[in-house]
Amino acid sequence: MSSADPVGAGAGTGAVTGQRPDAGPRLGVDPSPFAGRTAVVTGAAGGIGAATARMLAARGAAVVIGDVDPQAAEVVSEVEGAGGRALSVRCDVTAEESVAALMDAAAEFGSSAGGVVGSGNVDVLVANAGIAERKGPLHELDLDHWRTVLDIDLTGVALSLKHALRHMAAADDGRGSGAVVAVSSIIGLVGQANSAPYSAAKAGVANLVRSAGLGYAKTGIRVNAVAPGYVETPLTAGLDESVRSQMTARQPIGRLGTPEEVAEVICFLASDAATFVTGAVWSVDGGYVAQ
Ligand SMILES: NC(=O)c1ccc[n+]([C@@H]2O[C@H](COP(=O)([O-])OP(=O)(O)OC[C@H]3O[C@@H](n4cnc5c(N)ncnc54)[C@H](O)[C@@H]3O)[C@@H](O)[C@H]2O)c1
Repeated sequence: MSSADPVGAGAGTGAVTGQRPDAGPRLGVDPSPFAGRTAVVTGAAGGIGAATARMLAARGAAVVIGDVDPQAAEVVSEVEGAGGRALSVRCDVTAEESVAALMDAAAEFGSSAGGVVGSGNVDVLVANAGIAERKGPLHELDLDHWRTVLDIDLTGVALSLKHALRHMAAADDGRGSGAVVAVSSIIGLVGQANSAPYSAAKAGVANLVRSAGLGYAKTGIRVNAVAPGYVETPLTAGLDESVRSQMTARQPIGRLGTPEEVAEVICFLASDAATFVTGAVWSVDGGYVAQ
């Protein structure tokens, strides 16, 4: 299957007779906005990253997953089984050489894999890899824990941006081309008690993106972030029921989000539908930060 005929792209396009008239393509909506493009998603072995990788592939992208978790191979098999193109590369986002190798492998995959001619660029980066923290009062902070959370949740994003931007800046004869979406959090936009490392890291991601958005604004590169509220993923599944019901109660919409609801906004920001959006941090949070 070529990138012009991506997995799932046929569904709902109106090509099937007998559909409701309103089920066809809306004027101006491209069912394959990522055809011919290569998208790197870090931390896509599960949760929001896996949902994003599947969605990007379904919309035409050749997807490259960088994760420390070998479960990433299963997401690749799923994408391939549905007719899409994907590759998993073991990558620890805290190790610069590992991140550099991921982005180089992605550019190579985009230009040559599967006989499909792509851009040879890293067209999209979703800097999603992250871990939760052990919550506790700041006066009991464990420095090693602080360093681990900051390393993965902030430095890992900075390194991912650096090496994706290295490719993006060289694209289009040096004019630059690409779209970056980093994953911050509501906890990077508003405070949360007993959440020192995670809130500091995620606030860092939000301002990193504003700064990078400005830095590349005159090029063809856009840099944005999403700030999800509480979402049903492996990261939140392990929490005990009382914590989960507190989370639900804090969300004005009255429920946790799904990974797909976050992935939709990531895909929008990564697409040409968002060409006037850069340096922005979009809340995807059921109204959490509107309170
Ligand atoms: N789930 C939520 O409620 C929520 C809310 C706001 C923000 N987020 C953010 O969304 C992102 C995705 O989280 P999720 O909820 O899908 O959790 P998840 O645990 O399913 O996904 C995180 C992924 O990151 C990977 N990872 C961890 N350390 C890594 C490293 N050093 N190098 C490469 N990969 C690494 C993990 O293996 C995992 O696959 C994270 O940045 C998280 O902070 C999640």
